[in-house]
Order: sequence, then structure tokens, then C-alpha cells
Amino acid sequence: MHDLERPTPWTARRAVSKAALYDDLAQELDALLAGEPDRVANAANAAAAIYHALPDLNWAGFYFLRGEELVLGPFQGRPACVRIPIGKGVCGTAALQRRSVLVPDVEAFPGHIACDTASRSELVVPLDAGETLLGVLDLDSPLLGRFDESDREGCERLAGIVVRHLGG
Ligand code: SME
Repeated sequence: MHDLERPTPWTARRAVSKAALYDDLAQELDALLAGEPDRVANAANAAAAIYHALPDLNWAGFYFLRGEELVLGPFQGRPACVRIPIGKGVCGTAALQRRSVLVPDVEAFPGHIACDTASRSELVVPLDAGETLLGVLDLDSPLLGRFDESDREGCERLAGIVVRHLGG
């Protein structure tokens, strides 16, 4: 039986280097999602695993591409805006340019869409499945400058793992 007192790999907050944290999380995420074909179930577990494994987040989740807009998917955090047009906000910009967008200070990003007023910095990574863009992974932090290049690299790796397990 699962011991609720014992931290799982994705709830433990370990004092390790960022690179080691992302190495561990990548392995755990892959194992957590493996063998399950349901897209909603896997996106939900991925959002929860990421939210609890990475320190200082107030929101972690997915937006999926539906036509010309992104639509809210599974997430952890406060309720968020449901539809974001491509090209709008940090998420829409990452989707349009199909590259990660790292925002150290959301107030300095023109057009940032404020869902949770606690958010101070943000990292959005596209879910790239070759020719097709599935959506984006969005992380928000209440800390200014929470994300750096190693977070970008780490989260791009996590997004790749999620894409492999999202099925059609
Ligand atoms: N801040 C995002 C909107 C989504 S929320 O942060 C969950 C943006 O500007 O696209």
C-alpha cells in the first residue's frame, strides 16, 4: 500500500542541483506516463508532477491548440483564462513562434495575460510534435526571475516527454 507520509519522487523537494532535479523529473515523468494512452490523464498527471517537483511555482499546466487558439487543458493552480488567441500573451507568442519564451518579469512583457495576480515570472514551452504543434506547457512563479536557461532546457526536455505520451 502507498505510504502517504513517504514523499513520492515527484512530491519530495530535494536539495539537489537544477540539472539533477530535471534529470530525476524527466525519468519520473516518463515512468508516470508510460503505458497510458489517454491524453487528458497523462496531461493531468504531468501537470501535477511538474507542479509538485519544481519549487516556487503558482501555476503549471497545458494549453492545447484548437484551430487558431489555445484552449486550457489540465493544470495545477488557480483557475485560468480558457482561450488564448495564437500570438497573444506569453502562451500565444510561444505557440506562434514555436519556441520557448522565458519572461523574467511579466509586467515587462507587452500583452502578458494575467490569470493569477501572484504570477511574477513565466516560462512557456511549445509542445512540438514534428510538423504539428499540440499546444504549450506553461509555468508561472510568484518570484521575479524564477526561470533561467537551465529551466528552459529542462522544461523543453519535459515537454518532449509529455508529447511522446500524449498520443493522437
Ligand atoms: N500568462 C499567460 C496566460 C496563461 S496563465 O499564466 C495560466 C500568458 O500571458 O499567455
